[in-house]
Amino acid sequence: MPKVLVAYYSKTGNTKQVAEAIAEGAKSVQGVNVEIKNVADINAKEAVEADGFAFGSPSYFSVMSGPLLTLLTELYFVREKMAGKPMAIFATGVGGQVKAMENIESILKAFTPKLILPGLAIGNKISETDKQQAKQLGEKLAKSLA
Ligand SMILES: Cc1cc2nc3c(=O)[nH]c(=O)nc-3n(C[C@H](O)[C@H](O)[C@H](O)COP(=O)(O)O)c2cc1C
Repeated sequence: MPKVLVAYYSKTGNTKQVAEAIAEGAKSVQGVNVEIKNVADINAKEAVEADGFAFGSPSYFSVMSGPLLTLLTELYFVREKMAGKPMAIFATGVGGQVKAMENIESILKAFTPKLILPGLAIGNKISETDKQQAKQLGEKLAKSLA
């Protein structure tokens, strides 16, 4: 069964909430396995076996957080296994989340994905509307490989 990996970093829980909603949305699609993990618990060589990816981070100084950059750097070394797979990006912040997403996207492009879905930029107070949007993103990602 194809697998979606939702990989996130979160220190104070905002990005984690968005990741959980994305995973919930992805799980609503039949025939797709969904795994959600903090980047600190991810082994790049295992992670690369997933068929679709969502990467999320808080905006730190308008770029992604260090732990996500560390994972993406490790994935770069096995990027041929990332090629041709669908990907999604999400970020939280107090204004710098769009820049952080652009930062993540510039790296994902080096993995030659099948597609990068329109990113989800969210503030630091996660609303029900944000969660709904996140669920929709997860569903779209899962449907792209179902
Ligand atoms: C060290 C640090 C730097 C930050 N820099 C930015 C920033 O440049 N732009 C921004 O929009 N938010 C910034 N923030 C706010 C966080 O991105 C925001 O609170 C985020 O939702 C935290 O995510 P988390 O709860 O998943 O850890 C920063 C927070 C910290 C702790």
